Amino acid sequence: MPDRVLGGGVPRFVIIGRTATAGADFLLDDLPGTSGRLDVLLRCIRAALLTSHGVRRDTVIDLVLLGGPEAPRVARIDGASAKFLRPDERPLATLLKKSLAAHAMHSDPGGEGCFVEVRPGIAIARGGLEVALADRGRAPIYVLDESGVDVRTVKLDPAGIFLIGDHQGLDEAARAMGEPISIGPVSLHSDDVVAIVANELDRAFTIR
Ligand SMILES: C[S@@+](CC[C@H](N)C(=O)[O-])C[C@H]1O[C@@H](n2cnc3c(N)ncnc32)[C@H](O)[C@@H]1O
Repeated sequence: MPDRVLGGGVPRFVIIGRTATAGADFLLDDLPGTSGRLDVLLRCIRAALLTSHGVRRDTVIDLVLLGGPEAPRVARIDGASAKFLRPDERPLATLLKKSLAAHAMHSDPGGEGCFVEVRPGIAIARGGLEVALADRGRAPIYVLDESGVDVRTVKLDPAGIFLIGDHQGLDEAARAMGEPISIGPVSLHSDDVVAIVANELDRAFTIR
C-alpha cells in the first residue's frame, strides 16, 4: 500500500452512536435488533481501518456509545496496533462484544475518561464525546454535515478529527463542535461517508 504523508498526527474518525449499546449484552445473530444499531458503527470500523489488502496503520476510530444502561462509553480502535480486524460485521461485533465485556470485568477499569486497553489496539473508556475529544490538542474538528462546505474546497488537515452521525444523525451540540463539511449533496450512510473522507485524504496525501 503506498504511504500517506501526514506530517505528524493521524486522522481520527469519531462516530456518535446515539442508540448504540455501550454494554456487551447484544446478540450476534440479531445485531440491528438488539444493539441499538451498533451495526452502523461496526461498518464504520471497516471503512476507516481496512483497505482491500491491509489495515490503515495511520488511522484511529472512536465509537461513542450512548445507548443502554452502560452508557456512555467510548471504544477507541487504533489502526497502528489493532489485531484481528476483519471486514465482515460479525467478527467485528464479536471483537467489540469481548472488548466491552473485558472492560466491565477489568480489575482497574479506571474512572471517567480513562482509556483502558483491553485488546491490542482497542481501548475503552467511560464517558461520551467529551472523552473522545479530550486529547485532541490542536487538531481541528470537521463536522460531517450534508449542508456543510464542499470538502473539495477545504484544505483538510490530515491530523483532523472527523465527526460523523449514525442513522439518526448528529444532534445540535455535536454539530456546533467544528467546521461543517459536506462530501456531496446526497445524504449517505455513515460508513460510506467514512470511506469517502478516507479517500479524500488518500488523494491529498498519498505519494505514489
Ligand atoms: C445516515 S446519515 C444521517 C441521516 C439522518 N437521518 C440525519 O438527518 O442526520 C449519517 C451521518 O453521515 C454524515 N453524512 C451523511 N451524508 C453526508 C453528506 N452528504 N455530507 C456530509 N456528511 C454526511 C452525517 O454526519 C450524518 O449524521
